[in-house]
Amino acid sequence: MKPDIYPRDDYDDLGRYLPDRSPIAADLGDNRNLWGAHPAALAVMADAGTAVASEYPDSYADELAAAVAAKFGTSPGNVTTGAGGTGVLDALMRAVAPTRMRFMDPGWPAAGMLARMNGHEPVPVEWERALEDPIRFAGSQPCIAYIANPGNPTGEAVPDDWIRAVYKHTEAVGSVLIIDEAYGEYHRSRDDLTPFEMALEGERTLCVKTLSKAYGLAGMRAGYGVGSESLVLEVDKARGPFVVSGVTSKAAAAAVSSDSPWLDETIAETRVNRERLIDRLRQRGYSVPASAANFVFILRPDDRLEPETRQLESCGVRVRPFAGTTARGSGLRATVAPWDRMQRLLDGLDLVAAGRA
Ligand SMILES: Cc1ncc(COP(=O)(O)O)c(C=O)c1O
Repeated sequence: MKPDIYPRDDYDDLGRYLPDRSPIAADLGDNRNLWGAHPAALAVMADAGTAVASEYPDSYADELAAAVAAKFGTSPGNVTTGAGGTGVLDALMRAVAPTRMRFMDPGWPAAGMLARMNGHEPVPVEWERALEDPIRFAGSQPCIAYIANPGNPTGEAVPDDWIRAVYKHTEAVGSVLIIDEAYGEYHRSRDDLTPFEMALEGERTLCVKTLSKAYGLAGMRAGYGVGSESLVLEVDKARGPFVVSGVTSKAAAAAVSSDSPWLDETIAETRVNRERLIDRLRQRGYSVPASAANFVFILRPDDRLEPETRQLESCGVRVRPFAGTTARGSGLRATVAPWDRMQRLLDGLDLVAAGRA
């Protein structure tokens, strides 16, 4: 007979997360910044010596928390940190007793995985239906409501008024709202802090950020969340100490407080290439939703996803296939990159379409 406590029944659907990392000419599979890494962080890494390697770091990445607090004009008590945005989301979900996690479908599969890991039941709400009615999306019972803006895999943004309506409702019914701004830099202007301001006004809303995307620091595993002091304390309790290494905290803090033009320049170039790529794809007859992120989503029928992904690989291009529950969630996601790699994607798609890949 199966033992009661191990393995966990609610982990039956989970497996390892193992994206293909083998070398390839154009890896457009994971939405990191393909222009490189933030120079201020690289400078800290180059200077790191024995102490940062041999000593324990601050328990809660004080340097990163202080830099983030200064950026938002708030106190470090309003900032939690983690190993990437994933680490922050994981800790937040662990801080909440088992419940449901409502999310927009199509959505980021890892959010559902994190929900399951922490004993929550993921509840998809179909994208258009969610947008029609923020209250219906958020549900009438206390739960976790998860919004990624822009969303992944489609890159579509949701309006701030809609998020505010969800927020008012979740705060009122006692839910916990997550606003995941992983790709926010590609969508908002530098001084638009709307979701962070919302989180700071509320009691149970966390705005989560990663440094893996626009800052180009995916390998360093840095992320943070901004919210009320009480919520941040609960997340820190669930997160535990020493999760962020000393060098990551220092390097991420330097990147967040830097006035180097690198961030704005690579974001600007990403936006130009994104629009150019979407244009070229649509000219070829592909259906591609407007993207506010650093990736595009090429809608494809389910039965074409695996063969086309394999054929593109043979052309030296890696994209990520998503099989959705509806047609708008099925497609190939490609990270926006310097133009030579975008051209490679277009050439690869042309070969696939001509049956020559
Ligand atoms: C929507 C969304 N949120 C959060 C993350 C977290 O990224 P990381 O754990 O690298 O910070 C990702 C990464 O792909 C993402 O797509």
